[in-house]
Amino acid sequence: MVKVAIAGGSGQVSKEIIDALLESKKHQITILSRKEAPTAPIAPEIHRKIVDYNDEKSLVEALRGTHTLLSFVQVLSDPDQKSQKNLINAAIAAGVKRFAPSEYGSKGTVNMAWWQGKEKVREYLEEVNRKGKILEYTLFQPGLFLNYLAYPHKTAKYVDPLQSVFDFENKRAIVIDGHEDAIMTLTTVADLAAVVARAVDYEGTWPTTGGIRGNRVTFSQILEVGRKIRGSPFTVDKVKLEDLEAGNLNTSWGLKAVHKAVSEDQASALLKAVSIGILLSSSKGAWDISDDFNQLFPDHEFTSIEEFLAKVWEGKPWTSCISNGTFYRSLLSSIGVNKVGCWSASFLYSSYWRRDTHE
Ligand SMILES: NC(=O)c1ccc[n+]([C@@H]2O[C@H](COP(=O)([O-])OP(=O)(O)OC[C@H]3O[C@@H](n4cnc5c(N)ncnc54)[C@H](OP(=O)(O)O)[C@@H]3O)[C@@H](O)[C@H]2O)c1
Repeated sequence: MVKVAIAGGSGQVSKEIIDALLESKKHQITILSRKEAPTAPIAPEIHRKIVDYNDEKSLVEALRGTHTLLSFVQVLSDPDQKSQKNLINAAIAAGVKRFAPSEYGSKGTVNMAWWQGKEKVREYLEEVNRKGKILEYTLFQPGLFLNYLAYPHKTAKYVDPLQSVFDFENKRAIVIDGHEDAIMTLTTVADLAAVVARAVDYEGTWPTTGGIRGNRVTFSQILEVGRKIRGSPFTVDKVKLEDLEAGNLNTSWGLKAVHKAVSEDQASALLKAVSIGILLSSSKGAWDISDDFNQLFPDHEFTSIEEFLAKVWEGKPWTSCISNGTFYRSLLSSIGVNKVGCWSASFLYSSYWRRDTHE
């Protein structure tokens, strides 16, 4: 049994990991939060400590006796990463054995301004250990959550669906022309949680680069999986690398769903930046994640992209059917035809309309 403290433990990703830690029934878990819990804790055995990240002394007190400290602090809301830097200082002062900063994403952060905070914390940790190991740490990196390719369907208990440049719902994607072999690592949230829980149990030294490789696939392979699972090829918007570098995204569609940490007025600029950033960074190898934790836990069976997406998309109609179908259904109902399915509604109404105009 070890004492585990979770900074930012009320967030979506952290709650997935806390569930996995609770399953092992081995650890004492304390959530560090800046405020009282708005809802009941996800389990009664979880402790909660209110902390002020600007008060290092109180952080040290909160961390005394902690063996492993996992941070899930939202990097977007803290441009200078003061919270995580103070947390690291306090962890060292309190004698915390090991630490994981708020990573859980890509290997590189090139072209992803919204994740620059992660880079600052990496540099800070390197600086801390420059003259010898002061704090053991790992950068848990699972790549992009595979769950996002299920958008708009929710496939994790807490993590909300988010869009990506692979839109399985509408069978379309955005790809950089000539970079179809760029690598993307996709790991389910459940696999991330299981691996982090095992890492907490693990008594050996953590690897500093904490790659977690669920699926290592090229953009072309993802499109091929999409074709198989959704029954026909995706419409692909091919964009030019130089246009992206200039900040231009010339596509027929764009992302709409934004993370809850992003304010409404930042949303549209960020969504464009996310599309451009993910495409450019993948062409530069930022999502080609190492397999450090795969090697450490070779018996962990990762969910494959095909298995996961086949289950999600089985029996799900294409959106154009849903929207047209719903529209046509209401029109049919206005002429007294009720109780028809989505496809039949589209078909019936368009036949009716054709007959009507040709007679
Ligand atoms: N790979 C992927 O596809 C992917 C997807 C989503 C997220 N992630 C990563 O997973 C991590 C967690 O993300 P999330 O979406 O779960 O985060 P989140 O829910 O937005 O936030 C996590 C917690 O951060 C705390 N927090 C916010 N601002 C803070 C500040 N200035 N100082 C200290 N604490 C602060 C809040 O806790 P309190 O209010 O309780 O203090 C909040 O509950 C991030 O590193 C994120 O980049 C990766």
